[in-house]
Amino acid sequence: MHTPSWRIIGRGVYWLSMPDYESRLFENMWPIPSGVNYNAYLVSDGDECLLVDSSKNVYDVEEFTSLLKQVADPRRIKHVAVLHAEPDHSGLIGGLSSIFGSPMLYSTLRASAFMRSMFNVETRTVKDGEIIRVGGRALRVIELPWIHWPDTMLLYLEDEGILFSSDAFGAFGALEKPVFDDEADFEQYERNAKEYFATVVAAYRQMVLKALDKINRLGLSLRLIAPAHGVVLRSRIPEVVEELTSWCELRRKRKVTVVYGSMYGFTERLARLACGIIKNRVDEVAFHSCVSSSVNSILSDIVDSAGVVFITPTYEGNVFPPLSNIVELLRIKKMGVGKIAAVTVTKLWGGTAASQLSSRLSEAGFEVSHVCEYVNYPGGRDLTEYETLLHGFIEKALGKVE
Ligand SMILES: Cc1cc2nc3c(=O)[nH]c(=O)nc-3n(C[C@H](O)[C@H](O)[C@H](O)COP(=O)(O)O)c2cc1C
Ligand SMILES: [Fe+2]
Ligand SMILES: [Fe+2]
Repeated sequence: MHTPSWRIIGRGVYWLSMPDYESRLFENMWPIPSGVNYNAYLVSDGDECLLVDSSKNVYDVEEFTSLLKQVADPRRIKHVAVLHAEPDHSGLIGGLSSIFGSPMLYSTLRASAFMRSMFNVETRTVKDGEIIRVGGRALRVIELPWIHWPDTMLLYLEDEGILFSSDAFGAFGALEKPVFDDEADFEQYERNAKEYFATVVAAYRQMVLKALDKINRLGLSLRLIAPAHGVVLRSRIPEVVEELTSWCELRRKRKVTVVYGSMYGFTERLARLACGIIKNRVDEVAFHSCVSSSVNSILSDIVDSAGVVFITPTYEGNVFPPLSNIVELLRIKKMGVGKIAAVTVTKLWGGTAASQLSSRLSEAGFEVSHVCEYVNYPGGRDLTEYETLLHGFIEKALGKVE
């Protein structure tokens, strides 16, 4: 267990960094072997402070308070902003308020209802464009509903050009100490940010695009983006905005993802063969077993693929359940939009795996261009046909690359 720590990121602005190496799953669903960070922030002026968010309750109120005491007297906290009511940020707010100096809690109308029903905590509703004053400092409320939940707002600290961005610009990965983007392993950060996008944010990607557009139109001078998870951005903001935009648009590369399931290895052999054929025709092939690869990495690879091949054995008449789970996530998040899918099913006696998989992939937004079924591992002419079919699929997928 790593200890929480803090860092000054602007005049009178403190980053309270709480690493979580304990939760093995984010939202009790997404594997996070390298943990996740909860970021809270403190803005101070004279004898007043504003706390932005808190932490998931892997830390308790005493632990959070002892971190806070290293930078400010908790009784000086007169304001608390709840940017988003999800318990990974709001979990400690109720307990903390009682030890602060009767702070005013601020949130959007939706977050206010959520805080009441989850924690029996009352907040004052603020609206888009409203200013929260901390001593002589001004924080502008930017309402951006549906970045993750319908309740989200961002805060912009005018005098320092800092955008407290809640779940937007978030990433997985716990931080041993609070670091800026240029101090982190940037490639690792990008992987963590993309996995966070693919799993937590992707369903709301149209709203994130609108949010980016709104931030752009407001013409804010952005010196720092301070998200609720992961590193604070200062040096690579344009690059990160461009990357997030491309993910939100599900922009396609010359890339194909192969996802397969297999119980006794026949289907895996077929998947490896498909991968070998595709490899020669595209820039990148991502190859995933739906059982041993993490869901995060599978979804993350699909984000920028032009085509996806789904290969499954028939299981009791149906699609192999671990593969069904991936397809269900793609369906919920509509992640197939603009992408081509090929379906390959193996079987011994019968079932409806091919039609089930095809229709669920269509619901996920994919254009299902090729469907084939084989009895176990195909041989001879079937294999030649399979190769031809894959070439047809690759043509179609590459035709989707801008
Ligand atoms: C538990 C189990 C259930 C199966 N259910 C069906 C089925 O309902 N219909 C069918 O045609 N084949 C069924 N099969 C056969 C497999 O789909 C077929 O052998 C497939 O090629 C196995 O691929 P694998 O070696 O990659 O697991 C089943 C096999 C197993 C082990
Ligand atoms: Fe969230
Ligand atoms: Fe979050």
